Amino acid sequence: MAFSLVSCDDGHINDPVYNESNATYTARLTGTFRSVGTWSGSYSVAMACFDNQSPYSLLQTVIPASSADESQVLTLTNIPTEARTIEIAVVNVLRKRIATIYSYPIAADQQVGDTINMDVGTLDVGMFGVVNQFIFQGQATSCARCHSGATPAAGLDLSPTQAYRNLVGAAATKAPAMARVLPGNAQESFLYKVITEGDDNVSYSHPGLFTDQSYAPFVEIIRNWIEAGAKE
Ligand code: HEC
Repeated sequence: MAFSLVSCDDGHINDPVYNESNATYTARLTGTFRSVGTWSGSYSVAMACFDNQSPYSLLQTVIPASSADESQVLTLTNIPTEARTIEIAVVNVLRKRIATIYSYPIAADQQVGDTINMDVGTLDVGMFGVVNQFIFQGQATSCARCHSGATPAAGLDLSPTQAYRNLVGAAATKAPAMARVLPGNAQESFLYKVITEGDDNVSYSHPGLFTDQSYAPFVEIIRNWIEAGAKE
């Protein structure tokens, strides 16, 4: 046959080799994941580990919906040694990270074979909570910068505790016949129109706020959130 087993010829085949890539960790994470059951569409919330380079998780387990927001224990076994963080993150179907809700840095001297135990307490991981945190209060999209204070733009207050009630079921200032968010119908929701195509009566172009790669998926997440009933 026309091939040779190169590694058998090099004289080192019997040397004891510590193969680091076979040695791994286990991580056990305890937490209460509020509103995890509100996720729908092609995004979900997972416990996942990542290396420093790639936005795709090396390994993950999707958090199951718990009816009573009870404490859950999640486990990842055989975490590759390249992993640098263990996260609670929003991921897409390709396991790409969309947003990091919680991140635990794996120590450089973490002993393989050990179990990393962590307790994250209670996290709001619901669709609205995530959109509120990463978009309405987000640094880059900065909705609340213009939409809060004594005279919020268009009378729409998107500050952390006011955003939900100012959106869901509330009439739009610039299109009074429309709700800002009509649960179950994104096309008839002024919020969705303003962020996707804009509106002649809105004196600031909003679709531009979502052109950044890291925020673009949130347009679909907001649509999914509205279509699924716009739950808090
Ligand atoms: C630079 C300031 C600014 C930022 C940032 C901003 N907006 Fe606006 N927004 C405005 C202005 C100005 C209007 C229209 C007010 C007018 O024309 O009188 C408006 C109008 C709106 C309306 C229409 C409300 C209604 O009832 O008519 C919605 C919905 C809206 N913005 C959502 C958002 C969201 C969501 C974000 C973040 C993704 C955001 N805005 C970021 C300035 C801003």
